Amino acid sequence: MEERRTLGLQWRLVAVTAAAGALSSGLAVLGVWAAREFGFGGIEALAIGAAAGLAGGLVASVWSFRLARAIKHRLWNAGDLAGRIRRGDLSARLPVSDADEIGELETQLNEMAAYLEQAVGQLSRLAEQNRRLAEEAGRGAALEERARIARDLHDTVNQQLFVLSLRTAAVRKRVAAVAGSLPPGGDPVSVPSRTAPGSVSPAAGSAVGGIAGGPGGAPGSAGAGSTEFATQLLGELATLEEMARAAHSQIRELILQLRPTTLEQHGLGPALAEYVKTVAEREGWEVESEIDQTIRLRGSQGEALFRVAQEALNNVSKHARAKRIRVSLTQGEDGEVRLLVADDGVGFDRRAGIRPTAVGLAGMRERMAAVGGRLQVRSAPGEGTEVLAILPPEPAGDGDSAANRPGAGDTAKPVPGAAAEAADKPVPERSG
Ligand SMILES: Nc1ncnc2c1ncn2[C@@H]1O[C@H](COP(=O)(O)OP(=O)(O)O)[C@@H](O)[C@H]1O
Ligand SMILES: [Mg+2]
Repeated sequence: MEERRTLGLQWRLVAVTAAAGALSSGLAVLGVWAAREFGFGGIEALAIGAAAGLAGGLVASVWSFRLARAIKHRLWNAGDLAGRIRRGDLSARLPVSDADEIGELETQLNEMAAYLEQAVGQLSRLAEQNRRLAEEAGRGAALEERARIARDLHDTVNQQLFVLSLRTAAVRKRVAAVAGSLPPGGDPVSVPSRTAPGSVSPAAGSAVGGIAGGPGGAPGSAGAGSTEFATQLLGELATLEEMARAAHSQIRELILQLRPTTLEQHGLGPALAEYVKTVAEREGWEVESEIDQTIRLRGSQGEALFRVAQEALNNVSKHARAKRIRVSLTQGEDGEVRLLVADDGVGFDRRAGIRPTAVGLAGMRERMAAVGGRLQVRSAPGEGTEVLAILPPEPAGDGDSAANRPGAGDTAKPVPGAAAEAADKPVPERSG
């Protein structure tokens, strides 16, 4: 073992023992000498000397006891520290009182605790980073899967519905042209009887039977009813065409929901503007929209706000029966991004229980919380509904989002509006 201290513990013990010996024998000799000086006889002088030596020995024992006790306490403290380290309390340290072997032990233990504390801190930071990476990977996988489904839908059902709507339109135009050339009571149109019953409405089914004059048709109805039938057929074809067109537009919207390409390519502002326009056309709404298209949030924050807008608008369409709808996306001076979807519809009582299968509001809240934002919902029966999603400014230098938000990122502030959030508390959380 490396010899570090010149004045080690063994030398102190030797010094104390030697001093104790010297003290007691010195006092004994002094006692004898003094007794002789005062005229005591030989035996008496020896007795006095022995008593003085004994007193010196006693003083020396107290001294040694104190030294041994100090050593014992320092060793106990060192043992205690080792125990605390074993139990995971790495913040404790020992006072280093003396530069001896125990002082060395205390220093080493202190350094070990400090090193472990640092290592454990690093490990927990790594674990946290690992957890975040795993979460992001999971989110990435989910996004990838959604993108794949969107691609498949786009390449299959979407194309077929498009072709279906075109062909139905073409057939309707041909039937219209042929019907236009029908002589009154004539029967130039022959619709194949393989048209499956049930694929069109019963009215069309009987009409087809009628014009074909086939086994299902009423005898004699072909000539008299052809004009009427052609009109019915045209009506059915128009309905089919409309249904195919609606299905095509629904599937396109579904694809957009699964994979908002504008969001990936251009960021939140343009994607939201496009989405609001699509929904407004579909629902026949007049939407007052104030969307700042320079807000180019992407990544998880852009996605979260986009999905919140989608769900809020879905709720307006499903529940609100609104006349006026407002959508706004703005960014404050401090970089805070605010998304508002408001309607003047029937509203709802936020304190009344929401059925357990309703996860839309809770989902919006969770999405916002996951990206460091928050959601406020204001509603009352008959007074419309306001859904406000707030994303606080990012601290400067937070790569992804700061770069996506003009003006954001320079002024990091604590999240304001704790009171507003408290006011929002009564909205029941997801219960199922
Ligand atoms: N804009 C709105 N207007 C009226 N009622 C709403 C609106 N948004 C939400 N609600 C009410 O809140 C309930 C919960 O909404 P949500 O969690 O999105 O579930 P879901 O839409 O599946 O019903 C709805 O069932 C509805 O009663
Ligand atoms: Mg909903």
